[in-house]
Order: sequence, then structure tokens, then C-alpha cells
Amino acid sequence: MRPIDTIVTNPIDDREVGEAKNVYVGAEEQTPDYDSGVPPYARFVAEAIASLKPSSVLEFGCNAGRNLDLLRSLHPAARYQGVDVNPLSVERGKKRYGLDLMVSDEAWLRSQPSDSFDVAFTVSVIDHLPYPEEPLRHLVRISRHNLVLFELAHDRVGLATHNMYQTGDEAKLVPVYRNSYIHDYRHECEKKFGCICTADIRFPIGTDNLLDLYRLLVFTKRWDSYSVPQAAVFKMNPIA
Ligand SMILES: C[S@@+](CC[C@H](N)C(=O)[O-])C[C@H]1O[C@@H](n2cnc3c(N)ncnc32)[C@H](O)[C@@H]1O
Repeated sequence: MRPIDTIVTNPIDDREVGEAKNVYVGAEEQTPDYDSGVPPYARFVAEAIASLKPSSVLEFGCNAGRNLDLLRSLHPAARYQGVDVNPLSVERGKKRYGLDLMVSDEAWLRSQPSDSFDVAFTVSVIDHLPYPEEPLRHLVRISRHNLVLFELAHDRVGLATHNMYQTGDEAKLVPVYRNSYIHDYRHECEKKFGCICTADIRFPIGTDNLLDLYRLLVFTKRWDSYSVPQAAVFKMNPIA
């Protein structure tokens, strides 16, 4: 059953900043592979990025690198770099995929020169950070052409706490996945950092929890390299 609403609270407790990150350090919960073959959303994201024909790509919050590995198979002619806060995942990914992965967090973004990568992307990473402004600002700064985000988005921002389901006359609240934050990526990237949004596509990957809130957002920061990702525009949106 699909929720009729997602309950979001704001403001966010400052203690969540460290907590949200720490749950990932040493966490074993995510397998290095996709569980049962490449899911449509991952292919959609990878095809959208491949269609931009980047020569260098950063995935921030790459886990073991399964998205980078998929992207590399579609577009081998690029330099790939992954960064993740979880040392366990990075070690697994280096062995499994032979990718250039490193253990770090948003502090690493601050240290990188501007325009370091043609494309930077994230998949469900910023939606686990309570305050997105700083990492997004640096992701925009260090990407030369595009920032691609596949993240939770909703019409209110804050910590997602519950889904509301309706059965007949009765509404029921069910808690959602921990440390899930809804941000307004267009407000951040367009209004604050002057980017242009070239694609904003809803792509639900399930009905439970917050999975129906995922969107693919593509930003460019240069009018002279404005390009719309082909895959994102022409593909159908398969609802799980
Ligand atoms: C939901 S998982 C998504 C992983 C990967 N993007 C994928 O789609 O397979 C979130 C990832 O973000 C990483 N992460 C969370 N907070 C981070 C931070 N502050 N800096 C770097 N990585 C972070 C976690 O370790 C985890 O691998």
C-alpha cells in the first residue's frame, strides 16, 4: 500500500549530525552487489550519467562502488573515483571491483580543487545528511559540468519520521527508516549556487518506507555545456 503522506519534522536536532554519519562507519548492512541483478533505478542513473560522456566522475557515498562499476561498464572511457565514510565498504569495493575508492567524508570535498571532475553524483547519500548545504556547495564546486543526484525529495523539508496510510476512515502512522532527511535540492543548487536543473524526474523504487520519494536531479553549472541527459528524458519510469 502506498502512503498518503510522509510526516516530516523541522527543525532538526543538532545531535543528529554526528549520529547520522556514525551509523555508517563500520556498518555491514549493505552488500557490495545489487541484491538481485541491476535494479531499474541504478541503470537509469548510470545511463543518465553515461549519456553526458564525462571523462572523470566522482561518486560521493559510493559504498563498495557498485554504481561506479555499472557506470564503468556503460562508459569505460572515464576516470572513476569513489569516496565513502565506511572503511569496510571501501576495502570490499577495492578488492571486488578494482576501483579507486577512498575512505573520507564531506571534509574531503572541501579539500578538492574546483572543477576536479566532469560529473559528481550521489545515490541516497545526501538524504542521510541532516544539513545538505555544505556538501552540496562543494559537490557543485568540484564538478566541472554536472551534479547528478538520486535522492529523496518531497514538498516539505526536514527529518522524515512516519508514513501515513489510510484504510477506510482510519489513518495509521508507521515509522520510516532512520536518519532520512528530505531536502529541496532545486532550492539549494539553483537558488543558492546558481546551477541550472536540466532534469528532475520522479523515480519511485518501491512503495514501502520512503522508496516512492526518489528523484533523479541533474544540475549543470555552465550554460555553455548545457546538455540534457538522454536516458533520463526518453526512458519510461517503471514503477516497482
Ligand atoms: C544508502 S547508502 C548508498 C550507497 C551507494 N550510493 C549505493 O547506492 O549503493 C549511503 C552511503 O553513504 C555513505 N555515507 C553516509 N554519510 C556519509 C558522509 N558524511 N560522507 C561520505 N559517505 C557517507 C554510507 O557509508 C553509505 O555507503
